[in-house]
Amino acid sequence: LSTTEVDLSSIEAGQAIKTSFRKQPLFVRNLTPQEIAEAEAVPLSKLRDPETLEQRTKTGHKNWLITLGVCTHLGCVPLGAGEGENRGPFGGYFCPCHGSAYDTAARIRQGPAPRNLFVPEYEFTSDTHVKVG
Ligand code: FES
Repeated sequence: LSTTEVDLSSIEAGQAIKTSFRKQPLFVRNLTPQEIAEAEAVPLSKLRDPETLEQRTKTGHKNWLITLGVCTHLGCVPLGAGEGENRGPFGGYFCPCHGSAYDTAARIRQGPAPRNLFVPEYEFTSDTHVKVG
């Protein structure tokens, strides 16, 4: 199976980019300290698919949120990875197809999607590069 190299060096804090991995959209997001704090402030009991930000990121790199850009409802591509796009009421991603809203850890918070955006396998190959897959 193929892997994808992502260069993180030009992704600024607060920015999310859309690239691709195995022909699916891949979101790579550099969380701001405030977005990290927002994610960490949510009690797990409030989550439909309970996972901490820590579980969804790598140790020492919790500002880098890497997920598939595929809504877990029926597979639309959520908005929010790209400048000026709608990030929805929870500040992460928003799926316009049926209104699923994801938070700053890309966890489902509102709407019909059952699961958080999927975190693929990846590893840091340096401070500024990751290998996905
Ligand atoms: Fe995203 Fe239905 S496909 S809300």
